Formats: sequence, C-alpha cells, structure tokens
Amino acid sequence: MTVRALASVNLAAIERNVVRLRRELAQGTALCAVVKADGYGHGAVPAARAALAGGATWIAVVAAEEARSLRAAGIGAPILVMGALSPSELDVALAARADVVAWDERFVAAVAARGGGAVHVKLDSGMGRLGTRDPALATRVAELAASAEGVRLAGAMTHFATADDRDDPFFYEQLGRFGDWVGPLREAHPQIVVHAANSAATLRDAAAHFDLVRTGIAIYGLDPFGEDPVARQLEPALELCSWVAAVKPVATGESVGYGRRFVATVSTHVATVPIGYGDGVRRALTNNAEVLVRGERRRLVGTVSMDNVTLDVGDPPAAATGDAAVLIGEQDGKRITAEELARRMDTINYEVTCGLLARVPRSYHRDGEDAS
Ligand SMILES: Cc1ncc(COP(=O)(O)O)c(C=O)c1O
Repeated sequence: MTVRALASVNLAAIERNVVRLRRELAQGTALCAVVKADGYGHGAVPAARAALAGGATWIAVVAAEEARSLRAAGIGAPILVMGALSPSELDVALAARADVVAWDERFVAAVAARGGGAVHVKLDSGMGRLGTRDPALATRVAELAASAEGVRLAGAMTHFATADDRDDPFFYEQLGRFGDWVGPLREAHPQIVVHAANSAATLRDAAAHFDLVRTGIAIYGLDPFGEDPVARQLEPALELCSWVAAVKPVATGESVGYGRRFVATVSTHVATVPIGYGDGVRRALTNNAEVLVRGERRRLVGTVSMDNVTLDVGDPPAAATGDAAVLIGEQDGKRITAEELARRMDTINYEVTCGLLARVPRSYHRDGEDAS
C-alpha cells in the first residue's frame, strides 16, 4: 500500500460484465454503456474504453461536459447526452458530436439553429422527470426533428421508474405506454434507434430491450436489484482499500473517536485506518460496518471521521501497522460488497461508488496486470 486509500478498478471485469449482459440481448440489440458521474465513480474514460472492448457500441452520459471529455480522450463511439441541457451546454454537446434528447419543439429548433445534430425524443411513460407525458406532443417533436434542416431524428426513448422492483406492475404499464407510442413512430421512421431499458430492465425482461439497452450499474459488476452481484454472474470491478496505520490498546471503559460513540466493554485493541468521509466513506457507517483485515471481518467501531475509521481488532491484536484493510472487495476469499455497505446505510450501491471522492486515487488493472 503506497497511498492512504485507493480504489482499484479491474477493467477486465467491466469488459466481461458487458459481454455477460450482451448474452441477454437478441441479435441486433446493441448495448449502450452508461458512464455518467465519472463512470459511477470508476472513471468515465477507462470504463468507456473497457465497455467498448466488451462490445458496447454506444456510450451515454448526462452532462455535455462529460461528452466533451470523452471525445477529448479519443472516444469515437456514438455518445448520447441524456440530461437536460441549458443553451450553452447544448453548444458543448453538439460540438462533441453527441446525440441529445428532446421533448419539446423549442429544443429541436435550438438544435436546428445551431446547425443541427442528432436528436432522440423522450416520452415520459411514468418516471415523471424529463420527457413529455403527452404522446401526441412527443410525436410532433419527432416529426419536427425529422424535418428540420440539419436535424436528424436518431432515436426514441423512455426510462423506467421501477424496473428494479420485480413485484411492481408499473414497469409493464410504462412498457405498454412506450410501446403504443413508439410502434407507429418506428413505422414512419424505421431508421430510429428505440431504447428504454436500464440494467434492471435489461435483466428483467427482454420485452424492454428494443434496439438498444442503456446499462450503467451492471457494467460495473454492481447488482441493479441490490443483491449479491455474483448471483447474476456480475463481477464487481472496484475495490476500495486502505491500510492499518496504527494499532493501540484500549482498556475497558476507554473510548474511541468523536462523541465517544465506542466505549470498550472489554479490553481490546483498535486499529486506525486512514480513510473517512472526506474520501466518501460515509459517516452513516459509524458503528455500522466491517472491514477486512488479514482475511477476517473486523467491526468498524466509533464515529467515521473525515480522515479515519477505527476497527476493533481484539486482544491480542489481530492486526499490525501496515496490514491492508479492504472496505469494498475481497480478501482471502471473504467479500464485502458495495451492496452490503448500501444496505447498512439504507441507500443503494449506486450511491456508494458514486460517492467516492476525488481524494481517493483510482488505479486500473486487468486481472492484476497494471493498466493505468
Ligand atoms: C436515462 C437513463 N438511462 C439509463 C440509466 C442507467 O441505469 P442503470 O445504472 O440502472 O443501468 C440511467 C441511470 O440512472 C438513466 O438516467
């Protein structure tokens, strides 16, 4: 361990996850790798490259700036900017030769006024965020995109609100609304790319696949249903490690950390691991996580502070200065998943990896071979 904290990302795992997801798809259905939010914390450019190596043919982001930096890094694949764009952001997206998403006629006119670009029309089939709820308006937007000078009607899309909840029938309501709208549109414009599915929908029902699936979380080997990724043959690509920087005895009645939220009830030893909420290890894990040291789970005790966490390593101490500490990942066959941390914090795995902050360096490898 040469740095206090490190997120190491196995690009070969991302590549294999894409291959594995593509096995779900019918011939002719393409995979779009969603690498917004810096590749869900994994690094957008390396994640995009690994996904393309695994057979993805599209890349999606949310911000125009994300598209610009992917192009600057030499990514040549089609890029879809899925988010809402201000006028200046639209300039950036179009300059990056990215496809953009429209749901009103003014936006299509703004694309035309800038010399044109490729537009995907979004129907809000039930998510209630972006897109129009009105199928007739969505069709008018699409017809305008098809006819406006310089503009190309490239796609039609929607986004599911409950694909990850397999008991929720709303998924099928959305699918029905989208299908009713997109069927005639596709007849009129057979060249359009029709897409709806996120990772959960991709794994849930092939009826949602259409021409393209937009998979984010699963390409990183994280489970869209919040369960153990291994059960769906997904390989977590990211490991989060730190090290034992100090070990000290703590006598019965002595406390550790801010607010004295751990008081030893028997004499023990506490190992200090220099990673904290300033790195993205959230304070909600106070007295509520485990960390792997020497292949064993050790309880995180006391308050997570900005720069350190503390572990109960017992008496005699089962850790020494210099030992590796794994917060997410595997050590000697034992695993701690982002899904476990998410459960403990009552959140989702997405937030665990997106929440890793810039202070944590990312390093890249392919099954252990340096790929930085
Ligand atoms: C519009 C849209 N499509 C696709 C995705 C990818 O979703 P997931 O990471 O669940 O696969 C997202 C991410 O939230 C999204 O906002």
